[in-house]
Amino acid sequence: MADFGFSGDLFSGKTVVITGAGRGIGLAVATAFKASGATVIAHSGRAGTARQLAGIADQTFEADFTKSEDVNRFIVNVTEATSSVDVLIHNAGTMFGRFPADKLTSTDYEKLVMLNQTSVVRVTKAMIPLLRKSKAASIINTISISATTGGSPGSSIYSATKAFVATYTKALARELAPDNIRANAISPGTIATDFHKRYSSEEKLEATRLAIPLKRLGTPDDCAPAYLFLAANQLSGYITGQTLEINGGQLII
Ligand SMILES: NC(=O)c1ccc[n+]([C@@H]2O[C@H](COP(=O)([O-])OP(=O)(O)OC[C@H]3O[C@@H](n4cnc5c(N)ncnc54)[C@H](OP(=O)(O)O)[C@@H]3O)[C@@H](O)[C@H]2O)c1
Repeated sequence: MADFGFSGDLFSGKTVVITGAGRGIGLAVATAFKASGATVIAHSGRAGTARQLAGIADQTFEADFTKSEDVNRFIVNVTEATSSVDVLIHNAGTMFGRFPADKLTSTDYEKLVMLNQTSVVRVTKAMIPLLRKSKAASIINTISISATTGGSPGSSIYSATKAFVATYTKALARELAPDNIRANAISPGTIATDFHKRYSSEEKLEATRLAIPLKRLGTPDDCAPAYLFLAANQLSGYITGQTLEINGGQLII
């Protein structure tokens, strides 16, 4: 893990719940929180990625968020594991494939919405009482550059679910401010993870790289410090309802 220069105890005594922590961006974020002293309650998804979290997460719960009963079980697991949450990070998400708008099936649509959108709403709702027990809590939702741009062909519903979460995050910020719960979104550009191994060709990635002002794709370690920043009341206590873009200049608005 990169050395971010933060004090080792920035999150000492704080409980962080993070979904999609078994690989990619989520694994880097969970690692950074552990290194900063947090108690990490992690979620891993489909692929037995829980083993990646040995030595990083204090507890790991597996759940397939395309399944309603798994979302419910995850909520029960977390509420049994802790009575308060300081930082809630929704990071689990994927595209499942590229679905042209005229070929999208109801099953594809339902899976995308359930994972990227509905599970975020349901877990957030269940965690609000636990977040209220923190003196200064933070919700951070991983969205995507595609929430603004609409994404590339075949990603319309994925992109739309990320836009939903972007707007939901802004609404949460206003609604939960009286409880001193902040809510912000992190919007990665093109980050080199298994995500793109599955859904983007080498040629597409190289064309993207050349169009990025910093002339490289991002890495999970490029993203992790932003989560620490938005989670730490000492660093970002006056920031809520915002989206932090991490994209090497790929989108400048
Ligand atoms: N990479 C990028 O360029 C990029 C750009 C914009 C936004 N994002 C967003 O960043 C987040 C992390 O992506 P990543 O790049 O790190 O991709 P990744 O390596 O593919 O990780 C995706 C994460 O989502 C979890 N997940 C996938 N399907 C799931 C399911 N059915 N139920 C529960 N969890 C599931 C995975 O868990 P398991 O592997 O354990 O199943 C994994 O932890 C996602 O929300 C993604 O949409 C990524």
